[in-house]
Amino acid sequence: MEQKKKIIIDTDCGSDDAMAIAMALNDPAYEIVMISTVSGNVHVDQATINTLTTIEYADTYEPPVYKGLDKMLLKELIYAHETHGNDGMGDIGLVPKRLKAQEGNGVLKMLECLRNSEKGEIDIIALGPLTNIAMAIRLDYEAMKKAGRIVIMGTAGLGAGNVTPVAEFNIWQDAEAAKIVTESGLDTIIYVGWDACLGESMLNPQEIDKIRSGSALGKFAIDCNKDLMEMNKERFGDAYLDMADPSAMAAALYPECIEKCEKYYCEVDVSDGPSYGSVLVDVNYFSGKEPNVYICSKLYPDKYKEYIYRTLRVE
Ligand code: RIB
Ligand code: CA
Repeated sequence: MEQKKKIIIDTDCGSDDAMAIAMALNDPAYEIVMISTVSGNVHVDQATINTLTTIEYADTYEPPVYKGLDKMLLKELIYAHETHGNDGMGDIGLVPKRLKAQEGNGVLKMLECLRNSEKGEIDIIALGPLTNIAMAIRLDYEAMKKAGRIVIMGTAGLGAGNVTPVAEFNIWQDAEAAKIVTESGLDTIIYVGWDACLGESMLNPQEIDKIRSGSALGKFAIDCNKDLMEMNKERFGDAYLDMADPSAMAAALYPECIEKCEKYYCEVDVSDGPSYGSVLVDVNYFSGKEPNVYICSKLYPDKYKEYIYRTLRVE
């Protein structure tokens, strides 16, 4: 039996995180060794509840869930209730029936896992603000250096922002944390930009129906995204789904679906102005500085969607 690749997921579990976590729980090539939660879409307490609910609905195995940081490093939290609902999961009454979070802090548990691992044995997949990841870097850089890839849903990629004209939500929610991560010098940081889940990679109404009617897990993953669908009716004229975290999860677990991913010198803007939380991507090498992170800006839509269908058990 091929050894499963180990991953740690860090999440501010809102509705698109839930779909991504459900996908990861159904990929037999990977084992989620722990999940840490962080405030972002919703408060970390709610993100933890939503993560536990998702694990129950996936009905595969039950990785331990540890609560991480509740506040951003400096910036005041501004939740994304208009996008994901007040509970982060479409306010359709989803609660865990049985599971509870483990005792212990998510950041410290992440470092413990990494200290006890071989170099490169565990990849980290971050789906929310980078507060936990930045804190882990500051607390024990040597342990974080043992991580394999650090795949992050974050940045606007090579496109426009989704929370300001130039900033993507996960970076904007804690740009200071993102600056620490981006400048950390860690080997393999891959940002999957918001643009990777747009265009042909958006889920259209027919694909949404296919997922929702294709399995109980697919129905869960779509129904909890109802607020985003409502919002998108206004934004895009129909109930499309720009699934940011699922695109990052697909890029991380099924890299064959990546169409464009290049290494650039990137810098996070933490200035106190309109471009706060934007990420400068030096595509034309003006800075003369060494590329420091990868930017994945495009997926192959068909391969990406096939991966979603397969891991949500859609027939
Ligand atoms: O910009 C999209 C990201 O912000 C996603 O991770 C979503 O869940 C929110 O955290
Ligand atoms: Ca998220």
